[in-house]
Amino acid sequence: MISVSDPAEIPNIYSFSGKFPKSDFYRALSFYVKGKAIPGLFATQDENIHRLLKRPIAGMYSMTSLVSYEPHVDSTIRAFFNELDIRFVRTGEVCNLHDWLQMFAFDVIGEITFSKRFGFLEQGKDIEGIMGSSWRYFSNASLISQMPWLDYIWVKNPILQRLRKAKINPIVAFARTRRAEHEKEVANSFDIADENAEANKNRDFLTRFMEVERKDSATPAWAVNAWATSNITAGSDTTAILLRTVLYNLIKHPSSLAALRRELSSHGIDEHAVVTWKRATNLPYLDAIIKEAGRMHPPFGLPYERVVPAGGAMICGEQIPPGTVVGISAWVVHRDYEIFGKDSDVWRPERWTEASEEVRRKMEGALLTFGAGHRSCIGKNISYLEIYKLVPTMVGKYDIEFADGIGNDWKVDNKWFTKQTGLNVRLKHHSAKS
Ligand code: HEM
Repeated sequence: MISVSDPAEIPNIYSFSGKFPKSDFYRALSFYVKGKAIPGLFATQDENIHRLLKRPIAGMYSMTSLVSYEPHVDSTIRAFFNELDIRFVRTGEVCNLHDWLQMFAFDVIGEITFSKRFGFLEQGKDIEGIMGSSWRYFSNASLISQMPWLDYIWVKNPILQRLRKAKINPIVAFARTRRAEHEKEVANSFDIADENAEANKNRDFLTRFMEVERKDSATPAWAVNAWATSNITAGSDTTAILLRTVLYNLIKHPSSLAALRRELSSHGIDEHAVVTWKRATNLPYLDAIIKEAGRMHPPFGLPYERVVPAGGAMICGEQIPPGTVVGISAWVVHRDYEIFGKDSDVWRPERWTEASEEVRRKMEGALLTFGAGHRSCIGKNISYLEIYKLVPTMVGKYDIEFADGIGNDWKVDNKWFTKQTGLNVRLKHHSAKS
């Protein structure tokens, strides 16, 4: 695999026409049952399946649809704060924010997708091994995706798959149960002709996916489950990582936190209500903080691999033969001195607010947090909805400090619920004077 570091090659490799297809890296990330791939929007290498899956649902992830999911995010934020208040503010106990942000991220996407949280927040722990299985899946995938041949021999081998007992991924199982419940509810109450009525405007993703299935007979039987499952697998850990990066850096850099608080109070946002999406998107420093977090610590850590198409391609002035796997790592281009400046290794949200229009455009063009081009992230707006609301509301409500006083660098063991994290914090209610 050729790892390309020149940001100028982003529009070439990740074009909107999608001329470089996804490599076998993504096969290693697909779910397989009995030797057969379960198609998914994220991992499919088949452009026909991708079109079939994306076209009917793309509008559900658009900017204009966002506000309709807002009440789901608000209720999960309130549930999150309720738990933080009871368990940590009142008791003075140390809060492992690393884990709690992950529980928030899972529960909020569960709520938006199914109108039902997984229940991690209320229980304060992993349920049915869902987060544990996600951790194992991604830690295995980080190795196996680098050796797709090994994956084929050992994991996806159709003969071995037939011999093994089929295990259902707990996220897939959760999605199936919610679907069965929805089917019952819809059969009982939902008026198909009235889906645009006021009462239905905040309906969850699953309800919308099922509407597509009912209206379009070309929808394959597996599509609703594939859509629902990909919301959770692609949209929970990723959002948790970005949230951790934002909060870690705000606690680590009090000047950034103070600047954000100044921005919030200059916009009259210091009350304790959940900040609305409309107000959150008018806060340039908040925007800079979230962009800087995505730049410093992009949640998707490996190069997004693509295959050079027939005829070959010119990349960085070299003629690369067809079939070669190439990829750009966000972790590499996000530290490019020419684009982001000589201080690109340090946290400095001001680089986004102080930059000229031209420099800012260049930086945004090199930002691969959510990928680029034809296969970029469909859920970017959804995760922004969650993050843009949670971060200002949380810093308005709490004073947060590292339990060890300094915030050791993150160190996560290869298991869920580790205690070794620089995000062990103490929380108290924020008073404007402190
Ligand atoms: C901070 C949060 C997130 C990050 C950093 C992130 C990152 C990414 C990246 C880098 C890609 C493209 C990978 C590639 O080119 O191979 C991608 C694709 C995708 N993401 Fe996200 N994502 C996030 C949140 C979400 C959410 C909330 C959802 C769903 C609600 C989602 C659903 C998807 C899907 C379905 C794809 C595949 C799109 C396609 O191939 O057309 N993501 N994401």
